[in-house]
Amino acid sequence: MCDLGHHHHDASFGFLVDTAEIRALIAETERLSASIADPAARVEALRPAFAALLAKDGWLPDSCAGPDDSSKMGGGIGQYALYRAADGSLCLFSLVVPPGAATPVHDHLAWGLVGIYRGRQDETVYRRLDDGRDPSRARLEVSKRQQLGPGEFYPLLPPADDIHYVRTISDEPSISIHLLANDTACVWRHRFEPESGVVTPFRSGYANAPCPDQGASGA
Ligand SMILES: [Fe+2]
Repeated sequence: MCDLGHHHHDASFGFLVDTAEIRALIAETERLSASIADPAARVEALRPAFAALLAKDGWLPDSCAGPDDSSKMGGGIGQYALYRAADGSLCLFSLVVPPGAATPVHDHLAWGLVGIYRGRQDETVYRRLDDGRDPSRARLEVSKRQQLGPGEFYPLLPPADDIHYVRTISDEPSISIHLLANDTACVWRHRFEPESGVVTPFRSGYANAPCPDQGASGA
């Protein structure tokens, strides 16, 4: 579940939250991943199953729906693993962003779907202008801004639109649900400072599960 604290390694993978709704989405994702080779077509085919999860109540425990005061992203932002494939090929997680708080500008490095479950978010997406050859620098410009509310979602198909940040614009925390084809919080990703162009390695971590090389404490 989403309790903070100590975890046995084996409990950190698979269905950390075991509900019929989550199992249905993961089963559909595995089925479509096996039958559709093109990520864009696969993500498109996944839309109905993802929309169905966002539309349902009662499957997300309160323990995965609140802020995390020890957040590595700052601002009390909580990232809670709901499902993690043991081989790192797929994960489902909730991201809780308190009112007024914003994530760092970051990338995801995997295809998937991201949608709003509760609250509202303002999303700013960046386009990369340089060739990415220098791992410590990036030239970015804003390519898109949009506001999203409950039930609304978008596909991720890197490298297109893979760099963004979100801010909660509702009075309640926003909760977004992410289905992504990696172990997102444990992968070394990138954090961007658009004004200065500085890029730094970034690993967000889950609030409720350690990364494979972190040991059992989750520290
Ligand atoms: Fe994101």
